[in-house]
Amino acid sequence: MDRIGKICSYIDKCATFADVGCDHGYCAKYAIESGLCDKVYITDISAKCLAKAEKLLAKHVASGACVPVRCDGLEGLDNDIDQALIAGMGGEEIIKILKNGFIPAKFILQPMKDAPDLRAFLIERGCKILVDDIFFDGKYYFVIKGENSGGTSLYGEKELVFGRDSLKNPTVKGYAAAEAEKRRKYLLSEMREDVREKLERQYEMYRETAENDD
Ligand SMILES: C[S@@+](CC[C@H](N)C(=O)[O-])C[C@H]1O[C@@H](n2cnc3c(N)ncnc32)[C@H](O)[C@@H]1O
Repeated sequence: MDRIGKICSYIDKCATFADVGCDHGYCAKYAIESGLCDKVYITDISAKCLAKAEKLLAKHVASGACVPVRCDGLEGLDNDIDQALIAGMGGEEIIKILKNGFIPAKFILQPMKDAPDLRAFLIERGCKILVDDIFFDGKYYFVIKGENSGGTSLYGEKELVFGRDSLKNPTVKGYAAAEAEKRRKYLLSEMREDVREKLERQYEMYRETAENDD
């Protein structure tokens, strides 16, 4: 399954859905045309990107089922939306969006980087993480599905780095092997001793995960 198909597979049936940072609008289109939601908000900080989604969803915009909003993150939305997807941006940007706006009742997040920081943030804010997995579509992606209450038992170091479900998913081995190899190569160059120690620790963790047969 491709990345868009995979993230869309996590959308639950709901009344109002928001595709935040929608760009092309494919996920919003999937949600509305699969009958997963009655109303979909498409938001983007970029007018040009939002215009692409508006074009794709023109008939739903005309019927009122799709509402385009140009805004930063969730700032232009009411906090009563049932479910939001924030995909294809960095984890730090996703954290900023959730901090400046609100944590939606249900969310699907697909960070391009800084996933450990995002996991730590969600746990610290008392969110319930329902899915914290990895998939491959030309490269490795993490997907985090959850709710804004209910809490999650504390994650260990590896769970923060890889995601709790990813550690039971054989796909994580390929990711861990690639990350170990990146660090092995960095370690061939000169660097400060404290940086080397940190990289060596990371290298060992990735290598162990890549080779773990449990
Ligand atoms: C790489 S695209 C991802 C599009 C789509 N969500 C996906 O996963 O395929 C990132 C989009 O997020 C938008 N974006 C970045 N930061 C944003 C923010 N703070 N608020 C709203 N949209 C943002 C960009 O303009 C761009 O359209």
